[in-house]
Amino acid sequence: MTHARITASVYTSHVPAIGAALDLGKQDEPYWRAVFAGYDFSQQWLRENPPDVILLVYNDHANAFSLELIPTFAIGTAAEFPIADEGWGPRPVPPVMGHPELAAHIAQSVIQDDFDLTIANKLPVDHGLTVPLSLMCGQPQRWPCPVIPFAVNVVQYPVPSGRRCLALGQAIRRAVERYDEPLKVQIWGTGGMSHQLQGPRAGLINRAFDNAFLDRLIADPAGLAQLPHIDYVREAGSEGIELVMWLIARGAMSDAVPGKTHPVPPRVRHRFYHVPASNTAVGHLILEDA
Ligand code: DHB
Ligand code: FE
Repeated sequence: MTHARITASVYTSHVPAIGAALDLGKQDEPYWRAVFAGYDFSQQWLRENPPDVILLVYNDHANAFSLELIPTFAIGTAAEFPIADEGWGPRPVPPVMGHPELAAHIAQSVIQDDFDLTIANKLPVDHGLTVPLSLMCGQPQRWPCPVIPFAVNVVQYPVPSGRRCLALGQAIRRAVERYDEPLKVQIWGTGGMSHQLQGPRAGLINRAFDNAFLDRLIADPAGLAQLPHIDYVREAGSEGIELVMWLIARGAMSDAVPGKTHPVPPRVRHRFYHVPASNTAVGHLILEDA
């Protein structure tokens, strides 16, 4: 192995109340135990399959980026990312250490591959990024490896299409494979599943849509990528649109490489679905690359 490669993709919801439950020591209360139980296997799996770097696709919730500046896609190129204060103080979790060299390389490669990324040299990270880390790693003194934050706008319209997200994942895979250091890279797609936080439909959960989404993400990502964004909003709720970010991680798996004649699907190591956590359905998948 002389170049970097993508070894696995991980998908998970990012509910802020999950972070609060951990930070306040409530993880053994029955309501929360039912959520965390879905990640017991995952924490063990991550310890047994440690990546050198995690590229973490998430959305900022108007914490790092206000409505004054809204990048569709932004990659964090800093050496360190502080924990954002979302209004009640930063979460008491370790700072996120970046990987500036790989991040700059991915920016170079993906931009030359025709995707317009914003370069973020300073980026406080909110629950969209820290809650997935907490779910997968628990409460360590430091996170197990460097993390490259990759922020996607799903907060202010217009949002990127699933088709573009899948193609971006394909470009990220090409970028990683061109990096001439033998790094094991995991790509995580986060946010979702169905939830709506506002208006008359607040509290919306759609189990049938969520489970069909998981099925198609595994077996038919190219077909799923054709789903128009309005279908996400109608079926999964206004915040359910966060799910398009899962297609970036899925596009980076080897069977999604365009033009493959005999694509070998990734191995499903873990699948979990649970309702409720705060206002959302929690979904989680681990796919190992073929
Ligand atoms: C909730 C879910 C989210 O995705 C989010 O960003 C904020 C709040 C919730 O369920 O409360
Ligand atoms: Fe969110």
